[in-house]
Amino acid sequence: MAVTVTPLSGALGARIEGLNLRHLPHGDDLAALRRAFLDYQMVVFPGQKISAGDQIAFCELFGAADSDYKAPPQENDDYRKGVMLVSNVRKNGVPIGNLPDGDMQFHSDGAHRDSPYLATTLYAIRVPSEGGDTLFANLYAAYDALDDATKARIEGLRVHNAYILDATSRDEEAREGGTLREAEHPLVRRHSETGRKALYVNRLMSRYIVGLDEAERARLLDELIDQVERPEFIYAHKWTEGDFLMWDNRCVNHARTDFPAEETRLLRRYTISEAVSAAA
Ligand code: SIN
Repeated sequence: MAVTVTPLSGALGARIEGLNLRHLPHGDDLAALRRAFLDYQMVVFPGQKISAGDQIAFCELFGAADSDYKAPPQENDDYRKGVMLVSNVRKNGVPIGNLPDGDMQFHSDGAHRDSPYLATTLYAIRVPSEGGDTLFANLYAAYDALDDATKARIEGLRVHNAYILDATSRDEEAREGGTLREAEHPLVRRHSETGRKALYVNRLMSRYIVGLDEAERARLLDELIDQVERPEFIYAHKWTEGDFLMWDNRCVNHARTDFPAEETRLLRRYTISEAVSAAA
């Protein structure tokens, strides 16, 4: 079956059909997939039935495994370091994975690390009947839509990001007991493959713009965070079990909507790393 690529929205995203990810794509199929990933920034492969091992093997086509998350102990499977379950399922009251409940603010995975994640993959095993959508925001479009004066003003500036593992909102900044990880990155980030500029700022992690006085940096940060969350730059993905998604953290922020606590949400997440040198 031929691979087809169908755009999902005016903002970003494409659906890719004609691939069974239990088998690694190669040749023209892999080339089409790489092209779609760069062009559409987020790709969805519906109707997949893949193991953790399949997911890892697929990710290794794009880069190295790299995660701060350790897989919780699992039974009868091939989980290993780097695989993370995003789930509200609990065993004896303890979540079996990470990021269990409720909504989550926009962020880019790994923006709090010196070496952010190049891409993230999520595979839907169980999804609630409503809510729990993952929202994706196009950071190229957010940059392109800035006026020339703002583009000139922010060129060369850096943003300071901070994050406590498993936080889903800025309000958790004050939470005790978590380890705060911090990193600085260019506010205007040039994509290491496409060369395009993205507005690399997000509500969950970005704390201040380096080198500006307090009042100015707060005003500018608020303005830019609002810019990257403009509705026209966002695609909301409503999950179907069997969906496998991969998005490009170099040019995409993502967030999550709330969902009924009594329903099960279980996704398997695996990240792909980018070298420090490529992140600037
Ligand atoms: C994440 O931010 O990695 C999780 C997104 C989601 O649960 O939809």
